[in-house]
Amino acid sequence: MNILILGGTPEARLLCNALANIPDIHITFSFAGVTPALHPPGATVRTGGFGGADGLRAFLEAQAIHAVIDATHPFAARMSGNAVAAARLASCPLLRMVRPPWPDPPGRNWHHVPEIAAVPDALGSRPRRVFLSTGRKETAPFLDTPHAYLLRCIVSPDTLLPPHIRILQARGPFSPESERALFRDERIDCLVTKNAGGMAVSAKLEAARDLGIDVIMIDRPPLPPAQECHTIGDALIWIQDTLRAV
Ligand SMILES: NC(=O)c1ccc[n+]([C@@H]2O[C@H](COP(=O)([O-])OP(=O)(O)OC[C@H]3O[C@@H](n4cnc5c(N)ncnc54)[C@H](OP(=O)(O)O)[C@@H]3O)[C@@H](O)[C@H]2O)c1
Repeated sequence: MNILILGGTPEARLLCNALANIPDIHITFSFAGVTPALHPPGATVRTGGFGGADGLRAFLEAQAIHAVIDATHPFAARMSGNAVAAARLASCPLLRMVRPPWPDPPGRNWHHVPEIAAVPDALGSRPRRVFLSTGRKETAPFLDTPHAYLLRCIVSPDTLLPPHIRILQARGPFSPESERALFRDERIDCLVTKNAGGMAVSAKLEAARDLGIDVIMIDRPPLPPAQECHTIGDALIWIQDTLRAV
């Protein structure tokens, strides 16, 4: 039985590890190839885009894939959309394994925006010291703004950058203590983040709450409907049920 895991999250790797020792299951693990990544053991690894939904459909058919697990990041909307379209065209069962979004607990100073392009308006015109954890690619909205930015990312950006920006190259998870120290040292007064969910990168929210720092929360992009689960355990049950029915 051939399973394709669309990766890009720690959960994708964990699922691959959990499947690695099950006999008669062959896993193909797909990376976009944007950042250097550890290859999961026990899987055939492929890297790079498929060439849109049609390319992915052709891949599913050529590799005789029996089930697809979309375990990409909740903001990887293009890949998730392509996965739904390709799986439908190839009549291949698809499960989206996605972390629940961070809830908006009372007392937190969160301001929601629908997309990253709306962040500059939310920041306002008074110069601020902003911590950006929005990734290295989407710096364009900040080009003409008066704020000082600290952008944390795994790989240095190759996009145009606003004038007052510093890059901090680091890979999570981070602790609340280290996030508090960073925000204090850098005199951060606003945190801008995507609603990625999960524990690995949530320490910044705890630190922002403790220090009374404003949070601009970029809400998740809409995705086409698909069967979803939140945990590796539920994904394993779905895989067993699906493969039994093939
Ligand atoms: N967006 C984020 O904030 C974020 C954060 C952490 C990790 N990531 C991970 O980084 C990767 C790229 O993110 P993105 O936001 O650029 O995605 P995206 O906009 O949805 O995808 C852009 C294109 O990259 C290719 N691609 C994406 N994920 C792939 C995968 N797992 N295997 C093969 N090709 C893939 C696809 O190319 P084709 O159309 O040619 O198939 C896709 O159309 C994803 O795997 C995602 O899980 C993203």
